Amino acid sequence: MSIVDGAKQAVQGLVQGAMAKAVALAPDSWIPGGTPDPLILQQHGHIGKPLSRIDGPLKVAGQARFAAEIQIDGMVYAALVHSTIAKGRIARLDTANAEAAPGVVAVMTHENAPRLKPPPVFMSAAKAAGGDDWPVMQDATVRWNGEPVAVVLAETQEQAEHAASLVVVHYDEAEGLTSFAEAIARGTKPGAFMGGPLHNEKGDAEAELAAAQTRIDSTYTTPRHNHNAIELHGVTVAWQGDTLRIHDASQLVAHTAWSIAQIFGLNEEQVIVTSPFVGGGFGGKCLWQHQVLAAAASKFAGRPVRLVLSREGVYRVVGGRSLTEQRVALAAGADGKLTALIHSGTTAKIDGNVMPEPFILPTRSAYASTTLLLDVQTVELDMLANTFMRAPGEAVGTFALECAMDELAEKLAMDPIELRLRNEPEKDPLSDLPFSARHIDDAWRTGASKFGWDRRKTKPRSRQDGEWLVGMGCATATYPYYRMPGGAARITLTTDGKAAIDIAAHEMGMGTATAQTQISADRLGLPLDCISFNYGDSTLPGVVLAGGSQQTAAIGASVIAAHRALVGELLKLAGNDSPLAGLKPDEVASRDGGLCKLDEQERFESYVSILTRAQRSEVSVEATPPDPLETMHWSMHSHGAMFAEVRVNAVTGEIRVSRFLGSFDCGRIMNAKTAASQFRGGIIMGLGLALMEETQFDERNGRIMNPSLAEYHIPVHMDVPEIEVMWTDIPDPHTPMGARGVGEIGITGTAAAVANAVYNATGKRVRDLPITLDKLLG
Ligand code: MOS
Repeated sequence: MSIVDGAKQAVQGLVQGAMAKAVALAPDSWIPGGTPDPLILQQHGHIGKPLSRIDGPLKVAGQARFAAEIQIDGMVYAALVHSTIAKGRIARLDTANAEAAPGVVAVMTHENAPRLKPPPVFMSAAKAAGGDDWPVMQDATVRWNGEPVAVVLAETQEQAEHAASLVVVHYDEAEGLTSFAEAIARGTKPGAFMGGPLHNEKGDAEAELAAAQTRIDSTYTTPRHNHNAIELHGVTVAWQGDTLRIHDASQLVAHTAWSIAQIFGLNEEQVIVTSPFVGGGFGGKCLWQHQVLAAAASKFAGRPVRLVLSREGVYRVVGGRSLTEQRVALAAGADGKLTALIHSGTTAKIDGNVMPEPFILPTRSAYASTTLLLDVQTVELDMLANTFMRAPGEAVGTFALECAMDELAEKLAMDPIELRLRNEPEKDPLSDLPFSARHIDDAWRTGASKFGWDRRKTKPRSRQDGEWLVGMGCATATYPYYRMPGGAARITLTTDGKAAIDIAAHEMGMGTATAQTQISADRLGLPLDCISFNYGDSTLPGVVLAGGSQQTAAIGASVIAAHRALVGELLKLAGNDSPLAGLKPDEVASRDGGLCKLDEQERFESYVSILTRAQRSEVSVEATPPDPLETMHWSMHSHGAMFAEVRVNAVTGEIRVSRFLGSFDCGRIMNAKTAASQFRGGIIMGLGLALMEETQFDERNGRIMNPSLAEYHIPVHMDVPEIEVMWTDIPDPHTPMGARGVGEIGITGTAAAVANAVYNATGKRVRDLPITLDKLLG
């Protein structure tokens, strides 16, 4: 199927029709001055197919080597000693017993550690990767409860851990600020995120609220959450002369290499970070102290080092999501149209950290309210730096906003879906930018019909099945489209007709390598087995963050740029004896293992023929995509409609989610199988957010009290119902491949859908996550 034929067929379809209209209306595209990605129109290639993960067989066979499985000759094992106070100084460290313990090679503390510069904190430079910029084991100061104060190296992991238990630390304790309420009482500071203030105003929302006929004004609270990727954070490091090799579990290899080079005073090229397999990232697999300590300890001991954080160690060393206290106030006329939308509140962070939980982000583009007031305030506590975590902002922000919408719907005696549709904005309510594509009404309609929303009883507590109260709830899901700058790709085409695509990207289990193989195959007009997609190595091109649900679209843009460069090179090599002679790159497309003239597809020459005639064994190009200017022309977001059915035991308060459906509008789906898994995985995290997850933080001393999966609960199979997912598959004409993010949106809206269903079942509004049974009793 050629691109042109594909295009003809595409515009006949219903979905494609909507897309073609959007394309026709588009004054520009994701490439400024260019045209929409031609692959959007190609409906018969590999894109969209439910291809199984190409890394699956390796993982199932146990042949995928993760960072903590790399063996290096002479390697020693590390264990950490963590502080037990939130603030103060180390007065004395007794390490003699540890040093004398069997198998111990060295004990590193602030007294003997190599001198290091502080980590560059995220956002302070293009490739900064640190959660904070605090010095790593350089002085006697203790900055949080759990901070590493010693590294023990031994011949086995067990010997290292035993010896670590023998280190005795004496502290001069200082009074820390670890209580959220006390910090708020002392005063808050305005929050900022990604360089901009977390504050927006349109009109006088407070005045509208006060004057309104119908209003709600509620406070919602969400607890701290910790990262719990199944793969523990681990590194295996070795110094090879002046070169530092780090086998890491990372969602940002290039950032980590650069940042570690800064810390150790090295050139960027002297640090090589590889991370071919990652067992889950979720925002937590960035740069924390353990990579730095492993490299420092390796230098100190002159041996390669493996450092794997224990599950408790992850809680002590890797930051999570901060707690929030949010107010949502809504006012509406009898027609349900919002006249005021206020979303404000407070979150905690550390001094110098750039990651307050930005819970107002989803509200910025949610509803067409006449007036808006959005504000995030922060307090600074003595604790571990918090960080990005599973839809930061949107996950907990949509809980508050979408519960409030449900409360307002009830007050207005209006169906909650109808209320949302009546407040659909025509353009971005704050920026006034047009939406790149927004088909959330389709998502609501198709989702409601599939879920059987019409069977919901309007009156709470009116459906019972034995001891079980049954209810339904819904909520809007949303997550922004990002495409971070710094992308690049290299394509190497060889005379065997194969192509290698090299990008410093990441496979954390979401299907990156699979989707990019499909995308590259279609882009190059090659079969899947002629593509090798190489990633997870900081020496490859590009500075890529596997985060913000942006990696697929972002690196797809790099493949587009490299493909264009490749076409240019091939045309040069083709010369005057080719059927392609005289054509410009813009007139040429790839198909069937070669190039053809776009509107005259018989003018064709295969890659192999071009290379052979030019007597070349390969051609290799590297290119960088344009900056993400599309996000300045358009308001760009993925959308979704979430539906939950819950059963609450009237006697015990036990809550069971019995059915869940997510209906998504995320542009064109690249791989139906991996995308469905992303949606489902996100929804499962949302169920944990709704019903279980809660870090128990001792407000007296800043100690996390439940640093284990035994006491920090996440959903297990028995907690997860059948989850249906569906999507519009309407391409976004302003993104590469027509795709927007699918990674995090499933986490958003889910907690509100569950909370709203719990209300519908029981008549009890729980505005404090997680919704545990004690909150439903009495
Ligand atoms: Mo995600 S929290 O952007 O890895």
